Amino acid sequence: MTMKIKKARGTRDFLPEEMWFRDFVEKKIIEVFETFGYRKIMIPTFEHSTLFKIKSGEEILEHMYTFKDKGGRELCLRPEATASVCRMFAEEMRGEKKPLRLYYSCPMFRYEEPQRGRYREFWQIGIELIGPKNEYSDAEVISLASLALKNLGITHKLEINHIGILRNLLRDLGVDQKLQSRIMTLIDKKDPSLEDFLKKNVKKDWEKILELIQLRGGKEILARATELLSDHKSCLLSIEELKRILDILDYIEIEYEVDMSIARGLEYYTGMVFEIKAEELGSQSQICGGGRYDSLIEILCNEKVPAVGFAFGFDRVVEVVKLKGLNFPEKRLDILVVPVSEEERKDAIKLVNSLRNNFIGKLSVTLELMNRSLRKALEYANSIKARYVIIVGKRDLEKGKVTIKNMDLGKEEKINLEEITNFFKEA
Ligand code: HAM
Repeated sequence: MTMKIKKARGTRDFLPEEMWFRDFVEKKIIEVFETFGYRKIMIPTFEHSTLFKIKSGEEILEHMYTFKDKGGRELCLRPEATASVCRMFAEEMRGEKKPLRLYYSCPMFRYEEPQRGRYREFWQIGIELIGPKNEYSDAEVISLASLALKNLGITHKLEINHIGILRNLLRDLGVDQKLQSRIMTLIDKKDPSLEDFLKKNVKKDWEKILELIQLRGGKEILARATELLSDHKSCLLSIEELKRILDILDYIEIEYEVDMSIARGLEYYTGMVFEIKAEELGSQSQICGGGRYDSLIEILCNEKVPAVGFAFGFDRVVEVVKLKGLNFPEKRLDILVVPVSEEERKDAIKLVNSLRNNFIGKLSVTLELMNRSLRKALEYANSIKARYVIIVGKRDLEKGKVTIKNMDLGKEEKINLEEITNFFKEA
């Protein structure tokens, strides 16, 4: 009996060519992270679901894969990494010297409606900078995201805001925490019911919120926001903070747009927030999101430790790189060794073994295993774009030789067995 079983909705299989491409893109990002001194960590695939109930917000909780294990514990597949990294810091890293510069690259799980660029299992590559609280650390994180994309040749649009401006305004208007979060979610989703919701739930000056989130543009927007919020002292402090970050971005020539409607879908942000978009992707254009979260770690370990970070939606980044047709090295098999008949198989195995031992990590060497005739083996080598075929035949072996065929040039030459290592060292 056969049973046809398909992959679960929202998950994907990655075939070797795709993985070669994804690994290449990942390496280009990670080399920039490491240039900035970030060190790799790994977090568990599942956590106690309470971790994400603390401050990840409605949006995350709604889409979490939650389950009970055999011991009755309520666990979930990680929907994002920031809360896990904070838990890891609180549990394992409090004694370490700050700042801590950490990065991760792993799948996340959200029960969302799958579509192009939106999956239930998707990869994030992200960083967290734990310890400092100043504009230089905010600017470091933004410039890191920007350089990683530049390293991949991706042109992108950086949109930046300070969550304190909106949050402090809502607080000043008497909106409690719970309602604030609801409003932030509506703003984040650009939900058309926002106006009615504000009218109904915010007693005074609700128009100010609408006016504020319409502000978008260069640094001059800050002057307009200052005017609009002149009665709200704590909002002005947030605007000042944002201005200091923008000054540094100007100084290091990073282009941005201030967008006062960026609310982010996650609840733990307390300061600067940003999103990066790539036009090529249409409706799922957001390839990166991040910001400052200064109170999350404190909830987990009773120690005030500010932090800032971001995550790339890796699948989306890969998609943009593909659409842009970036040049990247082709993955090819270097050597296929073919015995002409069963008689020469032992010599062929010996040769494969010696080449593999001499060129670990440098050349890929395989033995023909499907009992193909020489003609079929050469056709196969062509189809997989092998660079060289070594033909192990009886007559050559009697003279201590084998035939090496350069598949790109179509040229054959006979080489003494003891000279093979040198031949490939030079090739
Ligand atoms: P986030 O905005 O929820 O932030 O996710 C970051 C990125 O992951 C998004 O910009 C998007 O590109 C990608 N992404 C999200 N959901 C999906 C999905 N279903 N399928 C494909 N890609 C998706 C965070 O997760 C924060 N932890 C980022 C952060 C780190 N903030 C501070 N440090």
